[in-house]
Amino acid sequence: MFAQLQPVATDPILGLMAAYKEDPNPNKVDLGVGVYKDEQGHTAVLKCVKEAEALRLKQEDSKTYIGMAGDLGFNAHIEKLAFGASHKVLLANRVTTAHTPGGTGALRVAAEFIKKANPNATIWVTNPTWANHISLFQAAGLKVKEYSYYDYSTKGLNEEAMFAELATVPAGDVVLVHACCHNPSGMDLTFAQWQRFTDLAKARGFTPLVDMAYQGFGEGLDEDARGLRYLAEQVEEMILCSSCSKNFGLYRERIGAVSVVAADSKIADVAKVNLLSVVRSIYSMPPAHGAIIVANILNSQELTALWHQELAEMRNRINSYRQLIIDKLAAEGVTQDFSFITRQHGMFSFLGINKAQIDRLRSEFSIYMVGSSRVSIAGLNHSNIDYFAKAVATVLKD
Ligand code: LMR
Repeated sequence: MFAQLQPVATDPILGLMAAYKEDPNPNKVDLGVGVYKDEQGHTAVLKCVKEAEALRLKQEDSKTYIGMAGDLGFNAHIEKLAFGASHKVLLANRVTTAHTPGGTGALRVAAEFIKKANPNATIWVTNPTWANHISLFQAAGLKVKEYSYYDYSTKGLNEEAMFAELATVPAGDVVLVHACCHNPSGMDLTFAQWQRFTDLAKARGFTPLVDMAYQGFGEGLDEDARGLRYLAEQVEEMILCSSCSKNFGLYRERIGAVSVVAADSKIADVAKVNLLSVVRSIYSMPPAHGAIIVANILNSQELTALWHQELAEMRNRINSYRQLIIDKLAAEGVTQDFSFITRQHGMFSFLGINKAQIDRLRSEFSIYMVGSSRVSIAGLNHSNIDYFAKAVATVLKD
């Protein structure tokens, strides 16, 4: 039977990560996967995580099953973090949350849940979107369509095309929107655009699915959730998938959450049993470790303050490189306008260079970025920024 298998393409992001690891060039630069790196190029464990983990080791007194919804303390915290502590959907018990193995797990559970609610639903994703969205939803049996989002010529949002296309989405379909730090373009909706999106969701009756993988990496924890909080105030139902990979630096612990917002608490109760039956049939229960680390941090004022500080350091370091890239490219004699980099948010920037230039950067300079020209800015530091700028200038000039 296995002899019938056909080879499949490697995931464009994870494939890049493996190729980078194998590259022997001492000057290699990893701008591929969305993982934070410090000035030393290291992805350190956050101090708040180390402390919360030590607490966990001391306090943990059982390894019994955690239950399908995962850690309830974590779930309560993550809802407050996303929606804000006194959001009306929380006060009205309209939200049900399950902690999941990473943001990807949250998206897969959401997809299976959508299929239960409406087997004919199409999910609409931004063009472009995170490389894994489309295959993940298709693997769950959902139809996927794209809507215009990024305009490669203006290096901004393709607002009119986007809203014109969303105005054709029928009730019963689902529209995925990135809460902040759009992956891969870094181009986010303004608050006015969130309002316009919300009006359309209400008028058309489609269900929004908000993917929030980078809360705190754009402008701040509350600022990055402003659009989704407004949306949740206005619509009857929506789904939120969140991740603690980036903002808590818990990548390999695989910790995320799926939250379903229903029209009232009774529907939320029914949504909950459906959500849990999806969980049961995929992985039964999530692993506990990452969730309890996050809960320990958010249970403690001191550790929460430390987390805020460490998150701000990561955000500010990335943001400080946005202008630096522009300045360094200009210093290398590049005349093209790269000012759009400062209008993008989060871990990524779309450089807007072509495939041949991206390939050359990799083959001649060992600079790795995703084929869309998505650059994970956190991979830059004071030791490699000049090398990077020189290399980009070289491929742009030739
Ligand atoms: C990315 O987009 O680089 C990250 O979300 C990591 C991944 O799993 O693709």
